[in-house]
Amino acid sequence: MESDKPLKVAVLGCGSVGSQVVRLLGEQADDLAARIGAPVELVGVAVRRLDAQREVDVPPGLLTTDAVGLVTRPDVDVVVEVVGGIEPARSLILAALENGASVVTANKALLAEDGPTLFEAAAKVGRDLYYEAAVAGAIPILRPLRESLAGDRVTRVLGIVNGTTNFILDRMDSSGAGFAEALEEAQELGYAEADPTADVEGFDAAAKAAILASLAFHSRVTASDVHREGIAEVTAADVESAREMGCVVKLLAICELRETEDGQSAVAVRVHPAMIPRSHPLASVREAFNAVFVESEAAGQLMFYGPGAGGAPTASAVLGDLVTVARNRLAGTRGVGESAYADRAVLPMGETVTRYHVAIDVDDRAGVLASVATAFAENGVSIQTVRQEGRGADAQLVVVSHESTDAALSATVEHLRGMDIVREVTSVMRVEGASE
Ligand SMILES: NC(=O)c1ccc[n+]([C@@H]2O[C@H](COP(=O)([O-])OP(=O)(O)OC[C@H]3O[C@@H](n4cnc5c(N)ncnc54)[C@H](OP(=O)(O)O)[C@@H]3O)[C@@H](O)[C@H]2O)c1
Repeated sequence: MESDKPLKVAVLGCGSVGSQVVRLLGEQADDLAARIGAPVELVGVAVRRLDAQREVDVPPGLLTTDAVGLVTRPDVDVVVEVVGGIEPARSLILAALENGASVVTANKALLAEDGPTLFEAAAKVGRDLYYEAAVAGAIPILRPLRESLAGDRVTRVLGIVNGTTNFILDRMDSSGAGFAEALEEAQELGYAEADPTADVEGFDAAAKAAILASLAFHSRVTASDVHREGIAEVTAADVESAREMGCVVKLLAICELRETEDGQSAVAVRVHPAMIPRSHPLASVREAFNAVFVESEAAGQLMFYGPGAGGAPTASAVLGDLVTVARNRLAGTRGVGESAYADRAVLPMGETVTRYHVAIDVDDRAGVLASVATAFAENGVSIQTVRQEGRGADAQLVVVSHESTDAALSATVEHLRGMDIVREVTSVMRVEGASE
C-alpha cells in the first residue's frame, strides 16, 4: 500500500521520550515514509509548559497545551502518548481512539492498572493500541511474546526490567557497598530519581510484570495482582551470602504458568529480589541494562537484552510501533489486539512455589542442626543443602530449601525466629533460576 497523502501524527509529551520521538520523526522522515508507504507529518506536540527548555527544537507552531484539542482533531491518524501517569493520559488515549486515531504509548503504569479499558476501546473502534516501549525500553519483547511465540506455549518469563535497581544491586555485588551507598551513587550518576520509590520498591517492575504476564499467558493480569517486594531491605550480608553460594542478587519480575491441584493452569506473578546462579544468563546483566528470559515448551530458552530505558532507546520502540500502526492504517486493517482468552486465575503468593535461602545465627551446641532441620520438616519444607560456618558466638547455619509453597517457607522462617537456639535469622532470600 502506498499513498502520497501524509499520515498525521500527534505527540503527547515532549520530555525524555517525547523529545526523542520528535527528533527521530524529523531526522528519519524519508526512511519512515519509505517504510510506511506514506509521508509522516507531525501536526502537534502537547506539553504542560510552553516555555520549558526542550532537548529538541520543535517546529514552530506545533507546541500546544491543549492536548484534548489535539487528540480530537478530525485529521489526526496516530496519537503517540508519552506523557505518563494515569490521568490525563487515560482520558487522552480514550478520546484519541474514540476519534478514530491509532495509538502508540509507552505508559506501563496505565496499561498495568487499566489496560483492559484501553484494549476494549481500541477493539470497539477497530484501531491499534501498541505499547512495545512500556516494557524494557528499546528491547523488543512484547512483539515476540504476542507474535513470534504465538504458536508456542510460554511457561515462564524472568525479567530484569528495572535498570535503577539492577545498577544498585550490581554495585553492591561488585564493590561490597551497602544499599544506601549504592543508591546514592545511582542518584549521582542519573540512574535513580531523587525520589527513587517507584524503582526501589518494585512498583515499576510490578507494572511491567503485569504486562508481560498478560501477554505470555493470554490472561488479564493487573499491577494489583503482582506480589511486590523491593530491594531496600537487601543488605551487603545478603549479597555476600549469595556470592558464597555462587549466586548474585537481582530484582526479578517472575511470571510463571503453574498447574493447580484441580489440574487447571494458573498464573503466578511476582517481583522480588532473588539469588540466581552466576551461571544463569540473567546474572551477566550488569549496570542499568535490562533483560527478559523466556522459557517456552517448543522454543526452549530465549533471552532478550538491551537498554531498558532512556529517551532515544525508548523512542526507538515507539517509532517501531508507529511504523506498524501506520502501515496497518494504510492497509485498512489492524494488528493483533488483546488476547485474554485463556482467562487464567492468578495464584496468591502463598501458593506460589519457590525456594528459600536462609542464614541463621545459632547457639554453638550439640543438636542445633537437628532442631533446625526439624523446624523445616514440621512445616513440610525439605532441605537441599546446609552449610555450617563459624564457632561460638559466630556460629551460623546457611540452609537452602527444596521447592515449596511460599506460605510453608515463610512459616518456617517464623518458626525459626521463635526458637531458643536461634539468635537471629540474618538473611532470607528466594532462590530462582537454579535446578533443584
Ligand atoms: N524515560 C524513560 O526512559 C522511559 C522508558 C520507558 C517508558 N517510559 C514511559 O514514557 C512515558 C514518558 O516518560 P518520560 O520519561 O519522557 O517523561 P517526562 O520526561 O516527565 O515527560 C513527560 C512529558 O509530558 C508532558 N506532560 C505532562 N503532563 C501533561 C499534560 N497534562 N498535558 C500535556 N503534556 C503533559 C510534560 O510537559 P512539560 O515538558 O511541559 O512538563 C513532558 O513533556 C511514561 O509513561 C514513562 O513511563 C519512559
